[in-house]
Amino acid sequence: MPSLPYYEQRSPGSGALPPRAAFASSAPRLDLGGRWRFRLSPTVAAAEAHDGQAHFAADGYDDTGWADLTVPGHWPLQGHGSPAYTNHRYPFPVDPPRVPTENPTGDHRLVFDLPADWPDSDSGGAVLRLEGVDSCCRVWLGGTELGVSRGSRLPVEFDAGPLLRRTRNVLAVRVHQWSSGSYLEDQDMWWLPGIFRDVTLLHRPAGGVRDLSVHAGYDHRTGLGTLRVDADPGGRVTVPELGVADLPAGQATTVPVQPWTAETPRLYAGTLATGAERVELRIGFRTVAVADGLLTVNGRRILLRGVNRHEWHPDHGRAVPYATMRDDLLLMKRHNVNAVRTSHYPPHPAFLDLCDELGLWVVDECDLETHGFADTGWRGNPVDDPRWTPALLDRAARMVERDKNHPSVILWSLGNECGTGRGLGEAADHIRARDPGRPIHYEGDPSCRHTDVYSRMYASPEEVRRIGERTEEPLDDPRLDARRRALPFVLCEYAHAMGNGPGGLADYQRLFETYERCQGGFVWEWIDHGIRQRTPDGREFFAYGGDFGEELHDGNFVCDGLLLPDRTPSPGLAEFKAVVQPVRFGGDAGGVRITNGHDFADLGLLAFRWSYQVAGETVAEGPLAVPPLAPGGSAEVKLGPPPPGALRKAPEGEAWWTVSAVLAADTAWAEAGHEVAWAQFAASPAPARPPLRPTATPRRDGAALRLGPGTFDAADGLLTALGGLPVQGPRLDVWRAPTDNDAMVLARPEDRLAERWHRLGLHRMRHRIDEVRLVETGLLVRTRVAPAAADLGLRTAYGWTSDGVRLRLAVEVEPEGDWPVPLPRLGVRLAVPAALGRVRWFGGGPGEAYPDSSRASRIGRWESTVDGLQTPYVRPQENGSRAGVRYALLTGEAGGGLRNSGGLRIEGEPEFALTARRWTTEQLAAARHTTDLLPDPDWIHLTLDHAQHGLGSASCGPGVLPAYRLQAAPTRFSLVFGVLPGRQPQG
Ligand code: GAL
Repeated sequence: MPSLPYYEQRSPGSGALPPRAAFASSAPRLDLGGRWRFRLSPTVAAAEAHDGQAHFAADGYDDTGWADLTVPGHWPLQGHGSPAYTNHRYPFPVDPPRVPTENPTGDHRLVFDLPADWPDSDSGGAVLRLEGVDSCCRVWLGGTELGVSRGSRLPVEFDAGPLLRRTRNVLAVRVHQWSSGSYLEDQDMWWLPGIFRDVTLLHRPAGGVRDLSVHAGYDHRTGLGTLRVDADPGGRVTVPELGVADLPAGQATTVPVQPWTAETPRLYAGTLATGAERVELRIGFRTVAVADGLLTVNGRRILLRGVNRHEWHPDHGRAVPYATMRDDLLLMKRHNVNAVRTSHYPPHPAFLDLCDELGLWVVDECDLETHGFADTGWRGNPVDDPRWTPALLDRAARMVERDKNHPSVILWSLGNECGTGRGLGEAADHIRARDPGRPIHYEGDPSCRHTDVYSRMYASPEEVRRIGERTEEPLDDPRLDARRRALPFVLCEYAHAMGNGPGGLADYQRLFETYERCQGGFVWEWIDHGIRQRTPDGREFFAYGGDFGEELHDGNFVCDGLLLPDRTPSPGLAEFKAVVQPVRFGGDAGGVRITNGHDFADLGLLAFRWSYQVAGETVAEGPLAVPPLAPGGSAEVKLGPPPPGALRKAPEGEAWWTVSAVLAADTAWAEAGHEVAWAQFAASPAPARPPLRPTATPRRDGAALRLGPGTFDAADGLLTALGGLPVQGPRLDVWRAPTDNDAMVLARPEDRLAERWHRLGLHRMRHRIDEVRLVETGLLVRTRVAPAAADLGLRTAYGWTSDGVRLRLAVEVEPEGDWPVPLPRLGVRLAVPAALGRVRWFGGGPGEAYPDSSRASRIGRWESTVDGLQTPYVRPQENGSRAGVRYALLTGEAGGGLRNSGGLRIEGEPEFALTARRWTTEQLAAARHTTDLLPDPDWIHLTLDHAQHGLGSASCGPGVLPAYRLQAAPTRFSLVFGVLPGRQPQG
C-alpha cells in the first residue's frame, strides 16, 4: 500500500516547535484574527486539484472568487457545509487511521503586513502560534510550508522568522475536517472543523524567554511559600509585593505568603526578565497532594462543587468569545460552583487565566477520547497500540507545557473514555516526570493503575456510599485493589443535566458531606450545545443532532447542560446552587445551627440577615450576628421572637423565618449583597382555615347541573363554568410530557420509563363515567380512568360541594390491578380562558420544583405570567411546575380580557403543584423544538397536582430514587375554587 497522506499518518504532525508555556510578555505580538479568505472543497483531492493551476499559498494567487470567513471560527457555522452531532459513534467507518474520501477541506488565506513598529529581523525571530485547529492543518507562510499539525484543542507553533516580510505576508492554512487525529477526538459534541482559536504572530527577541516553569508551593504548617522559576534561558525574577527582587531563575526563595485557593485566589504579580524580554508572572502559592487517602490543597481536604465545561456558544460553537468565557465564570461563581473539569480537552488558554483570577479548581483534561472504539469491541483502540503512542505523548506534552503555570489547575486528566491501554500509562509517566506537583486523573480505567485519584461517572448514591466507606466491590488484582481503596474519590461526571433535571443532587451532596473520601464531583454538564436557528418566519430555536440532516446522530443528547444554549440558567443550576451552598443551616426556628462549609475561607466574607414573613409578606427583617466561623466551624444562633410591632401589623397566615448569607463586600465575581446561601424555618403553621361549609344545594337546569358558582355538564359531571368564567372541567390527570430523564435513551428500550408509560397507555387514558349524582350536599361523579387494552385502572370519584361562593373538589383515587410502573403525576387538569395570563401564588418559587429537585424553591408570594412560567428546554418536555402552592390567582394580564370575572382563585388543602401552559400536555410531548409549540388562542391548560414522580438522572445515570417515586396508591386530595370579583382582583 502506498504510504499514507499526511493527514492520515498517526504521527502528531511535522515542523512544530517544542511545546512551551503560554505567557504574556513585553515582546510584540500580532493578532491575526479577523476576516480571512476561504474556499471549501468537498474532498482533499478536490482541494489539491486547485493547486495544480496555482498554489493558494503563493503570493499573487488570485483569491477573488473566494468567500470571506471570520477567524477564529468554524466554517460550518458560517454558511459552508453543516455541523453534525454524534455522542460516541464515529461518523465514518472505523478503519484507523484512514478517513473518508469525503473530507471537507477548508483553504484559509490571509495577507498581512507587519505593523510599522515590528522589530527588525536582526533583533530576533518570530513564531506563528495557532491555539486550535480542528482537526488537521497544513500551514504555509510566503509560499513555504511550515508544517502540519493535529491535536485540535492544543496549540502549535511554527518558526516564522525567516519567512516574514514587512508587507504582503501570505499565510495559507489548509484544514481537513477528518484526519488520523479524529480517531483521538471522539468527544460527545458537534463535529466542527475550522481554525476556531486565535492565530498570533509572536516576536521572539534574541535572548528572550523560550519557556518557563513557575514552582510556587505553600507550606500550611509554616505559612511560607517557596518560589522558584525555571526558565530557558535563565533570567531574573521580581515579585515586589513579596520583596523578591532580582532572584535568579532556578533559585528558590521562601517567604511568608497568603496561599492561593479557589476560595481565596490570591495572586502575586511578578516578572521574569532577561535582557531582551520581560514575562509577566501571576503567581499563586499552593501545594496539591494526595495524602492519607485524601486529595488535599495546602494540607486540607477540598470538596469539589464542580461542573463539566465544554466550550460552547450557540452561534460560534467552540470559538467562544472572551467576554462569554468570563461571563460563564462569573455565573459559575455566583452559583457556588468551585471547580471545572475541562471536558474533554484543554480550554482556550485565557479561560485558565480567568480561573486563576476568579478562583476555580480546575481538572485540565487532555484532548483525547477514543470512545467510538467501544462500538467495535475496542478493537484497534489507539491508546493500546504503540504506533499511536507518539501522538498521545505529544498531546499530553502540549497540554502540560502550555498550562503548567496555572495555580488553578490541580489535576491533570489523561483524557476521557479511551478504555484502557499502555499508551495511557506512558502518557501518565511522562506527565508525572514533567510535573510531579499535580496528581493524575483518568476515569476510564477502573484499576486506577495510572492515576492518583479514583474517579467514576454516574455511580449511584448507593455505590458512592460504599466507596465512601471504602467497602466497594474489589478489583480482581488484590494489589491494585488495595491501592485503589486507599485513593480519594471523585465523580468526574454525575447528575446528567439533560432537559428537566437533574434530580437527586442533594442526595449526592449529603454523601460528599458525610464521607471524607468522597470529595465531590462535576455535574454533567455546564451548557446545552444547541445551535441557534430560525424558523422561516423568523422565530428562534436551538438545533440539535439530526437537525442538519446527519445520517447518524444522537439527537438532543448534546443538550444536557445547566444553562440553556443562550446561557439562561436552567432550574437545575438554581438547584445546584442551593444544594452545594457553602454555608449549611440546621436546627429549627428555636435554634439555627450555622456551619461554615468552605474549605479555606472563614465566614467573615459574608453578612447574615434574617427576615420574618407572614403569609408571604416580609413584616420584619434585620442583620443576624454570626461569628466569623473558621472552615468546618459551626455555631448556634437564636431567631426571634419577631418584634411585637411587626406582629401587630402582620396579616394572618403561616409564618416563616428566612436566614440568608450575602457577600459582605464586593468581590471580583459579584457585588456586596449577592446571596450565597439561605434557609427557611417554619415559625408557625397557617391558622386553620374553617373548612368550606357545604351550604349550597345542587339543582338540575336542563342539560346542566348547578352548584353554588359552578355549572356542570349533567352528562359527564365536568365543570363548564365557574361564576362568569368558562372552564373545561377538572378531571384526573396522570400524564406528563416525558422528560429526557424519563426517556432514558441509553437504556434498553424495554427498560425506558417513558416507553413503559407509553406501552401501558398512560398518555391515552379513557374516562368512563359511572355515575353523576346530585346528593344533598353537592355533586358526586364516579369514574374509572384507564388505558385501552389493559385491565388496570384508577377508580376516581369527584365530590363537589359549595358554600354558595366557592366550590370544593375532593378527589378520591383507588388503583385497581397491578401497577408495574410509577405514575408520572397525579392531579387534575382543567382549561381556563386564555385571558387569565397573569399568575400570582403563595407557595414554592420563584422557579419550578420537583420532588427530587426542590432546594431552590422557597416559600413566598410570587408572580409571573403563564408564558413566564415555562422553562424552554431545548426539546420540549414537562417543565414549570411550582410546588407547595397554598393558593394561586389567575387574572387578566393587563387587567383586561375578561368580561364577567376578575379571575380564578385556587386553594390547596393544604397544597398543590401548579403548571399552567398555553398548550396541552399532548402538544408539549409532541413538540421537537420550542417553536413547535403554538399558543392555544382560547385556553390556558392547568394541571393541579397532588404529586409528581421525581426527575432522577436516568438520561445517563441513576433513575429516580425510591423516596421520590410516585407509586399508584389509594389517594385523596382536595382543592377549592373561587372566582375573583371583576375589576379589582385581590389576593
Ligand atoms: C459521558 C461522557 C460525556 C458525555 C456524557 C453523557 O460518558 O464522558 O462526554 O457523553 O457521558 O452526556
